Amino acid sequence: MFAGSLAVCSNFSDTEQKKQWKGVESVLTLKTSVCETFGITYPIIQAGMAGGATTPELVAAVSEAGGLGTLGAAYMTPEQVEAAVEMIRSLTDQPFAVNFFAATPPDDYTNLAEVQQVLRLFHAELDIAEPQAPSQTADFSSAIFGLCVDLRVPVISTAFGCLTTEQMRKAKAHGIRTTAMVTTVGEALEAEHAGVDAIVAQGSEAGGHRSMFSFDGTPAGTQIGLFSLVPQIVDAVKIPVIAAGGITDGRGLIAALALGAEGVQLGTRFLVAAEAGTHTVHKQAIFDSGDDSTVVTRSFSGRPARGIKNRFIEEFEKSGTSPLPFPSQNTVTKELRLAAAKNGNADFLSLWAGQSAGMLKEEGTAETIVQSLVAEAEKLI
Ligand SMILES: Cc1cc2nc3c(=O)[nH]c(=O)nc-3n(C[C@H](O)[C@H](O)[C@H](O)COP(=O)(O)O)c2cc1C
Repeated sequence: MFAGSLAVCSNFSDTEQKKQWKGVESVLTLKTSVCETFGITYPIIQAGMAGGATTPELVAAVSEAGGLGTLGAAYMTPEQVEAAVEMIRSLTDQPFAVNFFAATPPDDYTNLAEVQQVLRLFHAELDIAEPQAPSQTADFSSAIFGLCVDLRVPVISTAFGCLTTEQMRKAKAHGIRTTAMVTTVGEALEAEHAGVDAIVAQGSEAGGHRSMFSFDGTPAGTQIGLFSLVPQIVDAVKIPVIAAGGITDGRGLIAALALGAEGVQLGTRFLVAAEAGTHTVHKQAIFDSGDDSTVVTRSFSGRPARGIKNRFIEEFEKSGTSPLPFPSQNTVTKELRLAAAKNGNADFLSLWAGQSAGMLKEEGTAETIVQSLVAEAEKLI
């Protein structure tokens, strides 16, 4: 089917032909430059997902299966990260990545009393103590970076921005590969300039936080869909692009390659892996969801993030109260989320998931997920 488009190419100008070829070449093979850059067999990356889903077992199983497993280290202490990396290395000798937020802005509790007024009702319902005055949010970003260098992790991936110039210099000096997740062409150019080895283009379908570089409090964050974002970034930069958002099967993988991406990054698909630390009610909410189950909300963390809508999102938004800016809102809702997790109560958990969650109906091992993506893609090729 692509031979046809190759024949048509001959009428195009050089640049146009290059764009066509870039996509078509990638479609013809799963062996892209991303495989070479990261030393992996398939251009499939399991997203680093902060909050406990990306257990060392999941990361290692994805890497063992030929993809790139990623530890979501953003909310972990350096000690926890060190132990997890040690565990990953005991399970696999394949490359893996560690992911964290490139930047965490300082806390802002200006609107705290109003937010606590809303939270108080939920705390009472879950029978937990009244919301307390919160402490400063812990920011382990630079400590985790330092640890990644000391431990010589093969790949560092960042969200919300890039490594600093000095950090990038250090990473390169130690042979560590890097990626940054972006949501616009402008951010992609910034990441290329910063020196990343590959750009992760995050479409608006994606589960979890929007990865825009700014913290300006825009209600929904940047909202460019993957089909529009990937080719525009591919045309703007010279380094490989990895597509993220709503990809769950071989069709999505091939579509991303056809748009010029040289790899894919999947979050929600791996949330329902058997090895993932995802709460069972979160997995069930994914299996129960449909095409319009997710929304972008700031209610849980103060930063736009896509998740399955539930009572907390609906009632917090209905209250008309402005959430605190990120990360402060995340810190003040933590107790509630922990209590909900303990009780298996999906009403108050942040059920992050992408728009293709409705395509997922059962658990599978990380190995079968990678294998089925590859088999479906190869069949399509
Ligand atoms: C539960 C969850 C947590 C996430 N946490 C992170 C994170 O800590 N760091 C990060 O770079 N991306 C994070 N993401 C976003 C992913 O990198 C990726 O953009 C997204 O999962 C792609 O969309 P998909 O979920 O539809 O596959 C998270 C996504 C989910 C679903």
